[in-house]
Amino acid sequence: MGTYVITGSASGIGGATRARLENAGHRVLGVDLRDAEIVADLADPEARRAAVDAAVEQSGGTVDGLVTAAGVGPPFDAARMASINYFGSEAFLTGLRPALAASGSAQVVAVSSNSTTTVPDLPSELVDAFLAGDESRSRDLAATHGDSLTYAASKTAIARYVRRNAPGADWAGSGVRLNAIAPGATLTPLLQSGLDSEEFGPLIRAFPVPTGGFATPEQLAFWIDMMLTGEGASFLCGTIFFVDGGTDAMVRPDAWPATFSLT
Ligand code: NAI
Repeated sequence: MGTYVITGSASGIGGATRARLENAGHRVLGVDLRDAEIVADLADPEARRAAVDAAVEQSGGTVDGLVTAAGVGPPFDAARMASINYFGSEAFLTGLRPALAASGSAQVVAVSSNSTTTVPDLPSELVDAFLAGDESRSRDLAATHGDSLTYAASKTAIARYVRRNAPGADWAGSGVRLNAIAPGATLTPLLQSGLDSEEFGPLIRAFPVPTGGFATPEQLAFWIDMMLTGEGASFLCGTIFFVDGGTDAMVRPDAWPATFSLT
């Protein structure tokens, strides 16, 4: 049985993933604002670093899997969202990498979103600031662009972090499989707070979901579990796996895979 670290383990998708792994007999080190082995506010750089150190220490230096599910959605303070959604995830991905490599066959699932491909006019300067690791500029740009675009930009940066790093020597070459899941609308407290808001409620309800309805957190946890522990998981590398009821395919059918030329 393995040791798994899950950020955002107290609720929603992270909570449902925790339940699946524990039911299968794995050890879970949860990281959250409450009800977790490691209680920390991932918006705070100091607390974030201490939380990563605590995860390494409590695991004994070997981690078999990581899920970065801690996140917030609109309506929410955009600068704080930037710190939680991108830098809270990046700190665990980067900080736990040596402990994951020590496992020899670790699996990582970063939680992205289908907002990456379905929200128009994302500010690329913000995506770039995230990927450059510039938290202060990211927070300033987030405040300028607002919570909705910051949300999708943070999730796009996470997806790019995964695709840029997954095939490299530090990850695939060190026995660590790095992938992302891109959920669509999933009925959790995060989505509920959007549904309850006057600004975002009507927009979320109007967003097309070809299968109808919303996902349950358990449906997402099933696929995260497969990506972590499934028999075929070791060949997944740099995958962004959309589990979104068909929204991405419906909104931008030909956007990817895209053709390209070498000339
Ligand atoms: P949730 O609200 O049920 O769970 C998020 C967890 O993150 C909570 O336990 C919360 O306490 C924790 N968290 C929030 N801020 C934190 C902080 N500063 N420090 C530490 N922990 C913090 O939400 P849900 O929906 O399960 O979200 C999980 C992930 O899935 C998020 O990254 C979200 O962006 C992503 N996602 C959710 C979708 C949805 O429709 N629910 C769609 C696409 C992606």
